[in-house]
Formats: sequence, structure tokens, C-alpha cells
Amino acid sequence: MTFPFQIKPTQRVTRWAACAMTALATTPLWAAEKVEVIHWWTSASETAAVAKFKEAAVRRGLEWDDLAVGGGDSQRILLKTRVAKGDPPTAAQINGAVRSYAANPDIVANLDAVAAQGKWDEVLPEPVRRYARLGTKSYVAVPVNVHRQNVMWISTEAMKRIGATAAPKTWDEFFAMADKAKAAGIQPLAMGEDIWVNFTFMQVAFTTHKPDEYRKAFYDGDEAQLKGAGMVKAFEVMRRLRGYVDRSASTRKWNEATQMVIQGRAFAQVMGDWAKGEFTVAGKRQGADYLCATVPGSGRGHVFTSDAFLFFKVAQNAKAQADLAQVFMDKDAQVAFSLAKGSVPVRTDADVSKFDDCAKQSHADLVAGGKDGTAVATPNLFQSPARIGAWRDVVLSFWNDDSITPQQAALSFANAAKANR
Ligand code: BGC
Repeated sequence: MTFPFQIKPTQRVTRWAACAMTALATTPLWAAEKVEVIHWWTSASETAAVAKFKEAAVRRGLEWDDLAVGGGDSQRILLKTRVAKGDPPTAAQINGAVRSYAANPDIVANLDAVAAQGKWDEVLPEPVRRYARLGTKSYVAVPVNVHRQNVMWISTEAMKRIGATAAPKTWDEFFAMADKAKAAGIQPLAMGEDIWVNFTFMQVAFTTHKPDEYRKAFYDGDEAQLKGAGMVKAFEVMRRLRGYVDRSASTRKWNEATQMVIQGRAFAQVMGDWAKGEFTVAGKRQGADYLCATVPGSGRGHVFTSDAFLFFKVAQNAKAQADLAQVFMDKDAQVAFSLAKGSVPVRTDADVSKFDDCAKQSHADLVAGGKDGTAVATPNLFQSPARIGAWRDVVLSFWNDDSITPQQAALSFANAAKANR
């Protein structure tokens, strides 16, 4: 094992005995090892989903010390502060920010031994594997699922009211339906706070670029591509979408926006398939109450992300940390988690037969897209947080200021990449 602070068995016995003597009066000898886990899952379905990992951890004899910090960037800020203070948790949900921590081997744990034992290399898809080992040859993070991001959720009740019979396949079809929704007094697009505006932009950009162009722009930071016709088009679509969003959107959580679709108050929402968990909690059925379609213009293309936990060097029982890593990679725990969450398990050998059509379609498109190149990982997984942040600023300025033209925004987008590596 390559965990930090591991002590030799002989030392362990002596230390254990010493600790046990002093703690005997207050702590039961069978006390479970505590593992502190920080994440940003606070909506109803997210809480139900993370409880599945918690249960699996408890079954392994761990005590799960939960720290859920929802809401945009709050969790990332908290984590940064904790790490800076030298007080990291056992593991923290990380997603886009692996790179900022993984570059520093003094901070992150090395999970190679547990990964080798569990044959992670064989069961993780290539881009996810690369991400979990980013900045180092060693595993530092444990991916738990795959979420599809380019999904449009549509209320069937709202569809009936405007006479729509199928999900829009192109942006023009969407805007035609959005006009009808507006006329019928239905909010055409349910939007959430700033991060979801940027999120929507990234899904729109996937529809205005071929997958290879998308990779060139968002992975390689290719200047010509970043300021090219596809990016201008993406900003044009965003400007049009802006006209179908209400003014309260900037204070709304993503799940509150989902509620608008659940209740038929809004026609559609662009959101990752974690939104499905909220429909499930509300007792809604896909096909009957809502449609899970790809964002207009995506076809079967797949934009995916993977929730992952970064493990830190902590002064605690190495076995407990390895056990927690195994819980996250446990096939059954991943299935139970994803069924509640709306995602699919990241393990390619997991059984998806119990999943609904929306998840099965995502899984099939992901597998097919891995072969023909139509599946792309969200750039957040590989780009530097500085560049991602700079791009986000450009998108939000454009969204909030009609005097900025799509051409100017695309140019700023390319400049933001140049200034932030
Ligand atoms: C995560 C999801 C999460 C969503 C909303 C995304 O970044 O990948 O797991 O449900 O944020 O909190």
C-alpha cells in the first residue's frame, strides 16, 4: 500500500494499545473508523443518492462523516481553505478541479495499490481513467458515475398545451415551440443561476461544432476554432435563448428550475441527467410526464462528466481510506447510487438492466460515441480552472450585456484561452 502515514504493524499495536488505554472510558473498542467526505449533493435526489454510498460504507464498518455543501462554488472554496489550512477531508467530490490538486503529490493520496487490487484500469473508460490519474501517473481520484450533460427535459403537459408531439431536433424547432409556449403563458426555458447559463452555453457549443472541432476548441484551445464560425453561432443561439428566460433565473438553483418543468410551469430545461433524479423523487415518469431528449442539434452525440472523489493525504487508518475507495468503486453501490442520481455507473462491467430508457440511451450513446468519436468529455475535466473561469466570465458578460456581439464574444473567448493556460 502506498498510503501516507502508514505505520508498521508492530508500531500499530503499541500505538493502538496506548490509544485504547486512554480512550477506553469514553470510546467503545469497536468504534468504526471515521471517514470525512465533502460533496456538493444537497438536492432531494442527490441526498438520496449519496445515502447509498453512506450505507455501503457503514456495511464495511466505516463511519461516514458527511459534509454536504451545495450551491455553485461554495464547496470548492471550502475545500481549498481546508487544504490550505492543512486540514483536508478523507475525500472530496472534485470533478473539474482535479488538476489543481493532483499536481501536488504532497497533498493527494496515492491510490495505486487499491486500484491495482480492484483492476480499475480494466473497468474504467479511457477518458475517465486519464482524469482520475491526471497530473500524475498514479490514481488520486475515484470516479463513481457518468452523467450526460446535453439533455433537454420537456414537460409533456406543456407540449400538449402547445400541440407539440415530439422533442425539438433543431434549434429552429425549439424556438418555434418556445414562441408557442410564451403565447400560452408557459415559461419557455427554465434557467438557473449563473453556472447554469455557462453550462447551457457548453451544451449549445456542442451543437454548433462537429465533435472534432469541439475537441480542438475546448481541449486544445485552438485559437482559430475558438473564434470561428461555430463559436459565433453558439453565442447567437445563446442570445436567442436569453429572450425565453425570466428575470428571476439568476437566483434560482438548478433543481428549482427543474421543478418548473416538473410542474408544467416551464416547457423545457437544459440540464445534465442529474435532473432526472428530481423527476423520480416527484413520482414523475419518463415518456408520460416528461421527455428526456438530447439538446436540439446534438443528435445522439454525448457530452459527459464523471463525478469523482479526490483522496487526500490524511493522518488516519490507511485501511479505512482504502475501504472508502473500494466503496466508491463497488459495483452494487455504483448501481444503487446512479439509480437514484440519474447517472449510469462508471464501471463498464456494471449491470444497467435495471435502468430506465433515458439512462440506457445515455449508456448506449456513450459506448457508441467512444468508438466513433461522438462522445466528448466536458472540458472541465481536463482544462485548467483558470481557463474554465475565464471562459465563464466571457459567457456571462455576453448573457448580461446585449451590446456585446456574438463575434466580439467569440474573440474574447479565444483571448481568454490565450491569457489563461
Ligand atoms: C455534478 C452532479 C450534480 C450537479 C448538480 C454536477 O456538476 O456532476 O453530480 O448533481 O452538479 O449539483
